[in-house]
Amino acid sequence: MEIRPRAKAKGADALLVFYTKRAEPKSSIKDELEKVSKKGIEKLFQLGFKAQPKDAEILLLEKAPWKLAVITGLGKEDKLELENFRKALASGIKKIQNYSVKSLEIEVPQINKFEEKEILRAIAETLWFATYKYKNYKTNSKTALQKIWLLTQAKKANEIINKANIIGKEHSKIRDLINTPGSDLGPEEFSQLAKESAKELGLKLKIYNEKELARMGYNGILRVGQGSKRPPRLIVLEWQGAGRSQKPICLVGKGVTFDSGGISLKRSDGMEKMKYDMAGAGAAFGTICTCARLGIKKNITAVIPLVENMPSGSAQRPGDIVKMADGTTVEVISTDAEGRMILADALYHSQKFNPRQIIDLATLTGSATIALGRYAIALLGNNEKLLSALCQAGERSGERCWILPLWEDYNELVRSEVADIRNVGRGREAGTIVGAVFLKRFIKNDIAWAHLDIASCAWSDENHPYLGKGATGVGLRLLVRYLEDFAF
Ligand code: BES
Ligand code: ZN
Ligand code: ZN
Repeated sequence: MEIRPRAKAKGADALLVFYTKRAEPKSSIKDELEKVSKKGIEKLFQLGFKAQPKDAEILLLEKAPWKLAVITGLGKEDKLELENFRKALASGIKKIQNYSVKSLEIEVPQINKFEEKEILRAIAETLWFATYKYKNYKTNSKTALQKIWLLTQAKKANEIINKANIIGKEHSKIRDLINTPGSDLGPEEFSQLAKESAKELGLKLKIYNEKELARMGYNGILRVGQGSKRPPRLIVLEWQGAGRSQKPICLVGKGVTFDSGGISLKRSDGMEKMKYDMAGAGAAFGTICTCARLGIKKNITAVIPLVENMPSGSAQRPGDIVKMADGTTVEVISTDAEGRMILADALYHSQKFNPRQIIDLATLTGSATIALGRYAIALLGNNEKLLSALCQAGERSGERCWILPLWEDYNELVRSEVADIRNVGRGREAGTIVGAVFLKRFIKNDIAWAHLDIASCAWSDENHPYLGKGATGVGLRLLVRYLEDFAF
């Protein structure tokens, strides 16, 4: 699929236009469309079309530069948000995909409330999100839409669209990665893909194998990984976009390529989805690759622990006590609370890079869904400025975050009788916070740290308005936007 700007309409298989309410906002293309459709739009409105977000209708055209037009609704203008463009566009695309449409022109509307470049970026990115489908195991699949032109006079349209194309393609890449079955993506396979990308993009890469991990005392990763036949890995990718003296921003991503729960086995319904327990790793990996492609002028280090959490004769047991790299002893109450064990080592390792900030992403707790539903990422951390910058990047990118507290009182919930801490809290109390309290213990010297619990948003069971089903790639858009515009 190719997306490019075009200053003037030249015709294509289809045309897509946005409407907020009747005949608004006006434009010459809409006038032309009214002419060639013999007032088709006016008729649509008369017949009850309300231009609500997600409303999309097809008009068949004759003797026109397009075979059909799709009219999409943005809702009321005073309540308009960028997210409405994403939803409207996706509904329009869904309609178009019912027909054999290979080329498409989209009118980029001018709406005072938003900078044109933001609308342009939202539209271009969403074209990738909304047309994505996981096809790797379908024996015959076809891609219909091939060429898309965004009709715009915006200055730098080319640059903005190229950027969106980079983000969109990387987004699709990590969705493929996250959707890949556990059988075909274990720690070793993930590392191999990192190797290929590092080579292509000029990233520094180090892959630690199980022997090196043992030497480094990374027992969190080793103990979780010991139940699987596939050995664990820790990978570190570095992008140097600024001078050597600039401290890096570290991204740490949970990479459990399959989470069966281990000896604390999960119930079987829905277990098949636990291939997405490496969505944090996918997002960290995708973000550093995207930043390299965009040439972002910041130093970024991605630290990614990779394990498969399986039950077996060699698996760790509930009741085991693990000595972590920093000396902390952890009582394993549940082998299903494995994410925090591997992240503890990765957070410890990330501090060797003397970072200015550490941001981790993890499908850490089912409780995140209980707290926020699928509508926001749970955000916790020790630095208000960092949390607020991430929230702003979230609003802008379409991946909202919501801050939960991390008061000292919660430390009580991870106290153990026999070790320094335990890996789960008490009952169902504050599950998402307990996960963050555990991780906080491994952040030293008050380094600015943020934890994104993406368990609620990383997978879509019902159709997401513009991402569809399966892996959502959450975190990538947020972090790329953060690193572009909000990082300090
Ligand atoms: N990978 C899961 C969390 C998860 C659950 C992600 C559902 C996405 C959807 C994690 O490793 C886990 O099992 N967490 C436990 C923690 C508990 C044992 C303290 C949970 O959420 O139940
Ligand atoms: Zn688990
Ligand atoms: Zn997990």
